[in-house]
Amino acid sequence: MRKNPPPKILVTSALPYANGPLHLGHIAGAYLPADVYVRYQRLKGRDVLFICGSDEHGVPITVTADREGITPQDVVDRYHVLNKKSFEDLGIRFDNYSRTSLPVHHQTAQEFFSKLHGQNDLVIKTEKQFYSEKSKRFLPDRYVEGVCPVCRYEKARGDQCDKCGKWMEPRELIHPVSKVDGSRPVLKDTRHWYFPMGRFADTWKNWFDSGNWKENVRNYSLGWYNEGLGDRPITRDLAWGVPVPLPDAQGKVLYVWFDAPIGYISSTKEWAEKEGKPEKWKDYWCDPDTRLIHFIGKDNIVFHAILFPMMLQRMGGYVLPSAIPAHEYLTIEGRKISTSLNYAVWVKDYLEVFPPDPLRYTLAANAPENKDTDFSWKQFQNRNNDELADILGNFIHRTLTFVERYSGGKVPARGRLSVLDKNILRAAADAPENMGSLLEKFEFRQATKVFMDLCRAANKYFNDSAPWEKRKSDPEACGTTLNVCLQVAKTVSVIMSPILPASSEKLRAMLNLGEHADWDSAGKPDLAEGHALGKPDILFTKIEDDVIEQEIRKLQALDSGNAVQGPEAGAGRIDIAFFQKVEMKTARVLEAQSVPGSDRLLKLQIDLGSEKRQIVAGVAQSYTPESLVGKTIIVVANLKTAQIRGVTSDGMLLAVQTGAGHRLLITDGDVEPGRRIS
Ligand code: 2FM
Ligand code: ZN
Repeated sequence: MRKNPPPKILVTSALPYANGPLHLGHIAGAYLPADVYVRYQRLKGRDVLFICGSDEHGVPITVTADREGITPQDVVDRYHVLNKKSFEDLGIRFDNYSRTSLPVHHQTAQEFFSKLHGQNDLVIKTEKQFYSEKSKRFLPDRYVEGVCPVCRYEKARGDQCDKCGKWMEPRELIHPVSKVDGSRPVLKDTRHWYFPMGRFADTWKNWFDSGNWKENVRNYSLGWYNEGLGDRPITRDLAWGVPVPLPDAQGKVLYVWFDAPIGYISSTKEWAEKEGKPEKWKDYWCDPDTRLIHFIGKDNIVFHAILFPMMLQRMGGYVLPSAIPAHEYLTIEGRKISTSLNYAVWVKDYLEVFPPDPLRYTLAANAPENKDTDFSWKQFQNRNNDELADILGNFIHRTLTFVERYSGGKVPARGRLSVLDKNILRAAADAPENMGSLLEKFEFRQATKVFMDLCRAANKYFNDSAPWEKRKSDPEACGTTLNVCLQVAKTVSVIMSPILPASSEKLRAMLNLGEHADWDSAGKPDLAEGHALGKPDILFTKIEDDVIEQEIRKLQALDSGNAVQGPEAGAGRIDIAFFQKVEMKTARVLEAQSVPGSDRLLKLQIDLGSEKRQIVAGVAQSYTPESLVGKTIIVVANLKTAQIRGVTSDGMLLAVQTGAGHRLLITDGDVEPGRRIS
């Protein structure tokens, strides 16, 4: 009998605009959940393809270029490389990370337009659009800002309101203002191609009604449908984008939301080319049995649930999405992330200080699945210290060091099983299935909890079984406990892997398990007696208070910077008056000592010219106390006094963190203490 081949799974993550760095909100919304899902499906042995790339067109890019006085190409070149690296460093493993400025994308997007145009699916209209007399140009999309006609948000963009999500035409804005020059735009005739969504609404609705959608996707989409899906312009008067492939469309490009989702297809084509099988993209996009899943943030719902499926329906022969796990927003320390106000935790900054896995774990455990959730540095520290280090790390470390010391680093024999042994083995046997069924439903928070609950139970099992007590009195029972712990550690090494891939790899090396892991057999206690283990190592290092306080201070500085400056000054820049509030001075180190109980902190007595002070600095891993004495350093002298590990710190030393540790900021040539830096 012929068996049906398993369904192919095509996973896409929203193509981020290449106009700025990635922040934690991006990761929590469209990328980490997708990566966890894909990693899980791979461990299930499924044929899954994970596609993404940079969205390199649209007004966000040209606005950034205008603001910085560079070309749009400069902008996208910079951020494509930076963001690709951030994804890689965070362990987000796309099969392909493309760019919409590539020829393969331009061709694919133009083919879509030409086919729709050729079958009379587009409408041409001359309508009035905003124009700046001052700058002599049209002002599409977010080149205009104003008051949202629905929710009255005052900074709504011409294409979409950030607050209520309304997808609109700039003309609908109340009190429109040009972002280019601050002028009040006038209306001027221009000719464009429109996609008459109303004409195709019934076919779309039949398809949509047959799907099983997440509540936010269903509510938003039906809301738009009920409002009436009118004609939507899919071309723009702009110099940057995919040129409209018609002779009478000079100076016009495709609307970014028409071309961007097609980027998923062109990225798959690029992947197939790289694989040496140029037609292979069709195996995914043109097979009705493919499960197409779009991971996005909630602001992208209308485009993925209505516009793109409708385009695909009109094209014919393409698979339509089966699931759209649209995430809500992540706030940071209780505040909305704002790229324009520079209020965010940037991925590249995070990765300079911390490894990827604690962030992946924190964001998965606290994923904004059904409502907005908050990221705080304290919560991040607690997740790392109290859960990853104290529960998972501790269970693994105590098991492996015990086995190394008393069992020669080999899996001891498993004797008769007690009730305790059976219970924990049952928990390990059930965990992959329980966690897997939650991941299938995109319930990442619960799935993360299933995994950590198993670690918690395993740690308790180690305590309750007290192998150290039985080592001499009942060596067989002691061996059984360790054997059981190692079986559970094996299970953990598999089920942690979607969320904590780097740590899972490390653990599997410690267990000498090789790279091939398999979800379905993860719960089987099949580590053989006598199997030689690798070297035990630390899985997670605790994060100290001063490191977290420094991160909180960074955010507070952004916060107060913005408060002084206000949004109009743009892009998180500060004015000179704000900078001058920070009193930086040269200081000479008189004495230096370690801080008891900390391997990162040093206590310094410094000479600030007119006074002597004590400061605490987190540079002990890069400088010995003796090497600092006599050096001239730079300190922020007007910070509020802080207590760090119970030691008073009256100032902050300036240092830069590099891959090889800290480097002090020093002056060029000797400068006396107490000189102000300006
Ligand atoms: O909102 C955004 O960041 C868009 N660049 C997402 C595009 S998703 C897709 F359609 F390409
Ligand atoms: Zn609104």
